[in-house]
Amino acid sequence: MESLNRRQFFGTAVAGAAAMSGVLRAADSQAALLKLGLIGCGWYGMVDVEAAFKAGGVEVVALCDVDSDHLSQSADKVEKRQGKRPITFKDYRELLAVPGLQAVIIATPPHWHALQFIAALEKGLDIYCEKPLAYDVRECQAMLAAARRHPKSIVQIGFQRRQSPAFQQVADFLKQGAFGRVVQADVQIHYNAGMKDATPQDPPASLDWDLWCGPGPKLPYSPQIGHMSWRLEKATGHGHLVDWGIHLIDATRMILGEALPFRVSACGANAHLKTITTPDTLTAQFDFATCPVTWRHRLWGAEEFTPEVSNGIFIFCEKGTIFATDDRWIEIPKGKNQQRTNHEAKADLGGLHVAEFLDSVRSRKQPSGSVEQAFQSTVTVKLGMIAYDCGQSIRWNPQANQIEGNLAAAALLKREYRKPYVHPFVG
Ligand SMILES: NC(=O)c1ccc[n+]([C@@H]2O[C@H](COP(=O)([O-])OP(=O)(O)OC[C@H]3O[C@@H](n4cnc5c(N)ncnc54)[C@H](O)[C@@H]3O)[C@@H](O)[C@H]2O)c1
Repeated sequence: MESLNRRQFFGTAVAGAAAMSGVLRAADSQAALLKLGLIGCGWYGMVDVEAAFKAGGVEVVALCDVDSDHLSQSADKVEKRQGKRPITFKDYRELLAVPGLQAVIIATPPHWHALQFIAALEKGLDIYCEKPLAYDVRECQAMLAAARRHPKSIVQIGFQRRQSPAFQQVADFLKQGAFGRVVQADVQIHYNAGMKDATPQDPPASLDWDLWCGPGPKLPYSPQIGHMSWRLEKATGHGHLVDWGIHLIDATRMILGEALPFRVSACGANAHLKTITTPDTLTAQFDFATCPVTWRHRLWGAEEFTPEVSNGIFIFCEKGTIFATDDRWIEIPKGKNQQRTNHEAKADLGGLHVAEFLDSVRSRKQPSGSVEQAFQSTVTVKLGMIAYDCGQSIRWNPQANQIEGNLAAAALLKREYRKPYVHPFVG
């Protein structure tokens, strides 16, 4: 072998050291990447993952889904994004056991959240969990209790409208008092819901439907209650107020600085859409200490008349009204022909919310979408649906976490789990 001269030797050594330090830097930065897992690789799980990639500094090491097509398509996308294929699982418990996993995004339908959330906490993981907190109120209580038992875990719930500059500006404006006392709020999201085939049929071959139904009842499969459409099915999403309306109920609570309503009533119907099991037309009134908050939705013929206000919050005050939506708000002073003031306040709400979670994981300070706030918003909308389902006005006792004086309504706070699943509430 030809021996190296001194110059060649030092040149090689320097190049080797540089290469080695490059390798170490790459290893360091690889080690510094937050190791994420995703449970539920459907629509929003992948939106959250993309937001995490945009925020930067993450590696998605593992994915879990009960539909093998969703799993492989999501693994392809993640591999393309980060140059490394994540490991894939059907059983979330196996994903939670992946060595080195630091945080998990839970984006399954709500009837799965409680078991997956509590299991992730028990593994010492940080969690970004999608809204609503869970399917039933007692699950929410069990999740809150688990989060309190594991205070070191960082938890963000997916109420990204907490990041909205519009809603934050409205809260500040009301605090300054120019419009006087808040007297009433009206909240609404009207939209034209797309209907799918509701005929019972075999699920797609790639989907383990029994596992998808999980602790909920085993429903006969139809596309109208399958992927993405589960939101308008009573046994899974429990309807538009719980699914989408919860965002604006959460924002309204944030703006008003409110916790839980003391009384709730609701009425509505399936006035037009007959193949869904939740109302397409609903009015619910939530009596908070500050003021009554009225929710309205219509899922058909909805957007034609006043599209500019079909998704938003009206806050009626003594001296004027505010209309607020995700990215803008309007001051409307009292009296005829008063000058309105429009405020534009655009922001990437989902991007900010996921980025705040990742920052919190690094700084170990809890982010803004706390389990307590998610608990209050989820309980609020669930009380709305319980009032609708039992056709009665109900009273909520927040100290006892109980519906007072109505055993039939109180029974709807918890549903029996399908065996062998065990409900996490111990009360
Ligand atoms: N923050 C927001 O604005 C927003 C928007 C949409 C959805 N979401 C929430 O995100 C969650 C998912 O909604 P989506 O619209 O993406 O639904 P989706 O039906 O598109 O996706 C859900 C995925 O979870 C999978 N899944 C079901 N059970 C599972 C299990 N036990 N383990 C692993 N995977 C399982 C399904 O196969 C599917 O791929 C819900 O909680 C929803 O409320 C939030």
